[in-house]
Amino acid sequence: MRITTCYTSESLLVEGGTRLRGRVRVSGSKNASLPILFATILTGERCVVEDVPVLLDVKNTLDLLTSLGAEVVWEGNTVQVDAGNLKRWNTPEDTVRRMRASILSMGPLLSRFGRAVVPMPGGCSIGPRPIDQHLKFFSEAGAKVEVKNGSVYLSVTRKRPVEFTFDLITVTGTENALLYLAGVEGKSVLRNVAVEPEVMDLVEVLRKMGAEIEVEGRTVLIKGTSAPKGFIHRVIPDRIEAGTLMVATVVTGGEVVLENVKPEHLGAVLEKIEEGGGAVEFSGKDSLRVRSNGRRRPMEIVTREYPGFPTDMQAQFTAMLSLAEGRSRVVETIFESRFHHVAELSKMGANIKVRGREAVIEGVERIFGAEVYSTDLRASASLVIAGLVAEGTTLIRNVYHLDRGYERLDEKLKKLGARIERLPSGVTLSGS
Ligand code: EPZ
Repeated sequence: MRITTCYTSESLLVEGGTRLRGRVRVSGSKNASLPILFATILTGERCVVEDVPVLLDVKNTLDLLTSLGAEVVWEGNTVQVDAGNLKRWNTPEDTVRRMRASILSMGPLLSRFGRAVVPMPGGCSIGPRPIDQHLKFFSEAGAKVEVKNGSVYLSVTRKRPVEFTFDLITVTGTENALLYLAGVEGKSVLRNVAVEPEVMDLVEVLRKMGAEIEVEGRTVLIKGTSAPKGFIHRVIPDRIEAGTLMVATVVTGGEVVLENVKPEHLGAVLEKIEEGGGAVEFSGKDSLRVRSNGRRRPMEIVTREYPGFPTDMQAQFTAMLSLAEGRSRVVETIFESRFHHVAELSKMGANIKVRGREAVIEGVERIFGAEVYSTDLRASASLVIAGLVAEGTTLIRNVYHLDRGYERLDEKLKKLGARIERLPSGVTLSGS
């Protein structure tokens, strides 16, 4: 009997059976906020970032900037960073373990100081998630790259422009390269880049800081500046939170207006929402109304890099398709093992078979409340969605994961009529 002590984290108690109704504002994007906050390392001038979501990954990022010597003021959803007195270029050990996006400190630290020391990120529950492409870029850009005693040591004596082609499309790999080159004079070219909206939001910020950047397809031309400026920027809405709320609305047979959305970022998700039995209409330039049309249609989903169907929405749709009328197929092409939610959904009565990167879902009439464990950010969201539509009560442990990436999702859902309570933290033991 192996006893594992799970996170001493809070739990959520969800009572199934209510249809979500009402109106809710989508928060600013987590995955846009993080690289933009790291961009403040590049300048000694004041930076103001607006509509930053209040969540653990943002707190971890601001703690990291503070530990490097930046002055940070975080009031509500506005963050002010003054990195004029930045003195250190080594990222503290625990920050990367707590949040792998801390690797985004490499590019700006190396650009500003000519040096950076960042602990190697481990893998995580969704896969080994290597950073070989990040390191290959820095090396081809002329930096000395050494990995020793669990950290990456980067140094560059003379910053120079570079032409670099990524072997595979990587979001933070692209962002790390952009964060470095924004402070490098001369014309650089990056090919086979990621073009997620969050990457493009970072490009907007780097342009405000003085870099000249052109994006053509998956090629970026960038001329950096030796003196990046401060900026004011409002981050884009979180398209994954919007998608998550849409799935929750459709699966509960509800009707909800989402405010603060960018329809152009939601293409692939909207197609699948409508294919699965949802109806969406846009009202005004940044809000939409989503409701269920009563059907629960099966479908095939293949995750792809943007503009394809986002891997960060796969777990949420897997929960929805557990109740579809028929067989669905979900193929996860981005991460090696992003089906941990399946074992938990099966405890609730879902009928899903996983073979490698493919999950085959036989829709069932009903699923039932159970005690389930969240393993990663989007898996947690899929368990909340399942709990909303299950018969009876679902207890979701380790809700820490949810809080890493969603700003008070339980409160937003409660406002839409969901019966969801947050239980105090306590060490939970699970045997397996
Ligand atoms: C970003 O992670 C997001 N995180 C992830 O969101 C998102 O799931 C992912 O992009 C894909 O869209 C942030 O933006 C902070 P990748 P990232 O580098 O950059 C492999 C969430 O839920 N790869 O695009 O780490 C890698 O293993 C999080 O908010 C290499 O092999 O993802 C993966 O299989 C989860 N070598 C694939 O590429 C490298 O050097 C895509 O990874 C880099 C990546």
